Amino acid sequence: MLVLGIESSCDETACAVVEDGRIVHANIVASQIEEHRLYGGVVPEIASRRHAEAISQIYEQALSEAGAGLGDIDAIGVTYAPGLIGCLLVGLNFAKGLSYASGIPLVPVHHLRGHIAANYIAHPDLKPPFLCLVASGGHSHIIEALDYTSFRVVGRTRDDAAGEAFDKAARTMGFSYPGGVQLDRAAQSGDPTAFAFPTPRLDTPYDFSFSGLKTAVINLVHNATQKGQQLPVEDLCASFQNKVATILCDKLLLAARDLGYRTIAVAGGVSANSGLRGQLERRCGELGYALYLPPLALCGDNGAMIGAQGYYEYCAGNTASLAQNACASLPI
Ligand code: KG4
Ligand code: ZN
Repeated sequence: MLVLGIESSCDETACAVVEDGRIVHANIVASQIEEHRLYGGVVPEIASRRHAEAISQIYEQALSEAGAGLGDIDAIGVTYAPGLIGCLLVGLNFAKGLSYASGIPLVPVHHLRGHIAANYIAHPDLKPPFLCLVASGGHSHIIEALDYTSFRVVGRTRDDAAGEAFDKAARTMGFSYPGGVQLDRAAQSGDPTAFAFPTPRLDTPYDFSFSGLKTAVINLVHNATQKGQQLPVEDLCASFQNKVATILCDKLLLAARDLGYRTIAVAGGVSANSGLRGQLERRCGELGYALYLPPLALCGDNGAMIGAQGYYEYCAGNTASLAQNACASLPI
């Protein structure tokens, strides 16, 4: 079965053709990052307009790379929530137009379910149930994937998402938006024990809080600047990254132990972080847990993950009418 996957929830216009939820025939991603970088973050109105300009071409490119026509497609999967509402509407309405014109079923896909499904593409042996950390620019969740279309949130961030914390810390250190990946690169030549950062204390054991950590790094940099001191940026990046990775790992592995999971997956933009990947590989190895990480190309937003999850949603009967609306925030 061939599923078209359409993604436009933030600043990537993406379209893919995926077979049976696992095999990618085409995966085209057009990033708007260069333009948003000028403003230090994603500007929703600009993002929506760029999606509207790009989407037809990205769709044509995906079909052409897959060597397919619309008539070969069995279902149209599209991200309908959560995300920037104007951005979501561009992808959803494009998908509705295709569905209306062709009679091909429309399958609404939750963006976070899509991120989790990126792992099905990379790992043919991965099947639910498993425990998944979903860490992106807007979310940090520990989620039980009970089945392909059934989920339970075990923990979530109380304030900033992990990606947001990376980006804000990076901006304080002088990196341009989105700074997470640049902070990661600088961290590789730094000492992760050079700076001590506070550990957030929460009464709910699987929840996260990153705002204190973010404030700590901002204060450190501002105090040094006021005193005319130059901080060792690589050490600062390595220490900050190590702290975030340790918090994410600690909570995920605690939840895995308490809930009896020995199969762990990670998803979302932050799953590209080398410190997080390294620490998870080491600790899951020591515990004998099976760890599944998406390849770097599938960590960020893409259409293939939506096509993959779209297949499982379609198999579960989760299709929609043309009355389907987009939703800026929606539980998984
Ligand atoms: O999943 P994603 O592409 O978009 C959302 O759904 O939010 O995640 C983007 C987030 C950004 O905050 C970005 O800085 C972060 O993922 N990110 C990273 C790395 N690569 C992307 N954070 C830390 N280290 C990285 N290597
Ligand atoms: Zn995302």
